[in-house]
Amino acid sequence: EESKKIQLVEDATLPAAVKAKILSLTPLRGKRARVLGWVHRLRSQKDIIFIVLRDGTGYLQAVLSGTPAQTYEALTLTLESTVELIGTLQPTPEGKTAPGGHELIVDFWRTLGTAPGGDDAFTNRLNEKSDPSILADLRHLVLRGENASSVLRLRAAMLSAFRAALSDHHLMEVTPPCLVQTQVEGGATLFKLEYYGQPAFLTQSSQLYLETCLPSLGDVFCVQESFRAENSHTRRHLSEYTHLEAELAFITFDDLMDHIETIICETVDKLLQNESSAALIRQLNPSFTPPARPFKRLSYVDAIAWLNEHGILHEAEDADGNVIKDASGEPTMVPHAIGDDIAEAAERKMTDIIGTPIFLHSFPAELKAFYMKKKEGTTTPPATAGSGGRSGIFTESCDLLMPGVGEIVGGSMRIADIDELLAAYKREGIDPAPYYWFTDQRKYGTCEHGGYGLGVERFLAWLANRYTIRECTLYPRWPGRATP
Ligand code: 4AD
Repeated sequence: EESKKIQLVEDATLPAAVKAKILSLTPLRGKRARVLGWVHRLRSQKDIIFIVLRDGTGYLQAVLSGTPAQTYEALTLTLESTVELIGTLQPTPEGKTAPGGHELIVDFWRTLGTAPGGDDAFTNRLNEKSDPSILADLRHLVLRGENASSVLRLRAAMLSAFRAALSDHHLMEVTPPCLVQTQVEGGATLFKLEYYGQPAFLTQSSQLYLETCLPSLGDVFCVQESFRAENSHTRRHLSEYTHLEAELAFITFDDLMDHIETIICETVDKLLQNESSAALIRQLNPSFTPPARPFKRLSYVDAIAWLNEHGILHEAEDADGNVIKDASGEPTMVPHAIGDDIAEAAERKMTDIIGTPIFLHSFPAELKAFYMKKKEGTTTPPATAGSGGRSGIFTESCDLLMPGVGEIVGGSMRIADIDELLAAYKREGIDPAPYYWFTDQRKYGTCEHGGYGLGVERFLAWLANRYTIRECTLYPRWPGRATP
């Protein structure tokens, strides 16, 4: 009752306050500042109220005492309310710490938008121990948290660093379309839609478009959403993900792997050299160390041998691709053979044991996409059980595997010869008609070229040591989820 009567009036004799974002307060020390934001933390001690204010650029400690702490608004203030705080910015007293090394001694303030208290209070809606699907429904509120927002901040810094590294190497950024009528990585994972009465797809990869840029813009890259209708409920698969792809002309397969390694290492260096992104990495992944160069290169054939030497088996399949189970219903485990697709689980075990980035390269043609260049002089590999029926043709392809996450990059050299490309369409049962513009690249001055795609969320999961890539994007999409 008493507090309702206490009115706070701004003292007109004080110097005018300068409006500022939390990030740029330091030059205002000793001066009067006006800051707007959300009440991130709230604590009262005797007659003093401590607010940690959040405005998206940082956190600021504010101290309310005397009349500012005694009004009705002060006594009913709730977390996540928006407020305007005006006061003198002072260095934190000796022996105390606060974000930015200063605090705002508030002389005037007001609530701009209240947040509910009681049952509907922010902390009741959002309980960290909640079911993952509830947290996914509440992603818009989860984002207000310190870790979730730090991951997104690091993501922004990471994309800037990638762009800078690619630009340093003279790759130009382009923006290919999302609505397409051609597949790149196989028809099985295409999202189909009706487009003015015609079938169209959401892009799986911008690779083919990047290839068409080489003759006009030289080496290019893009940061574009890719879509995969995979029914994979894993911590590494999204239905929509951000795909950083690049394409380079007149290179060899070794040049391609060197380039991928260089871009990744220079991006990491840029992030560690920048004070704010380095702080984010320390916060999210304290034991992070930049990978040593050169990255290990392991051929597919050598990887099969490595898996077998280390007793890493895979599920046996019958001729129709069904898993063979024993009497107790457990899958029968057998050694790997040349021609087998190395399953994600086996690949991850290998990567975690080796413990460094690995370029796994030279995959059999049968396991890879239609556009990949064949390795010269490829002959039938040594006869191994299970290799029957395989062509023995290998490709200039590579996947970059990272400990903890697995594959983060997929790349290859591309077919440069037009007849070989036409034969590849045929072999894969692809109608060449909608690919006329892609085929024309091989007709009007072909070149040796190659490129790659990097999963931005997977790279970030590695950098920020996140358990799932679902934390590494703003609003993740996975099978069955397209909200919020
Ligand atoms: O290996 P992928 O399928 O390669 C391509 O699409 C090539 N056309 C790229 C190119 O050469 N321009 O995909 C490349 C990367 C993978 O290594 C992985 O990091 C990521 O894209 N990726 C996914 N990330 C999240 N969710 C999914 N469902 C993903 N599928 C692929």
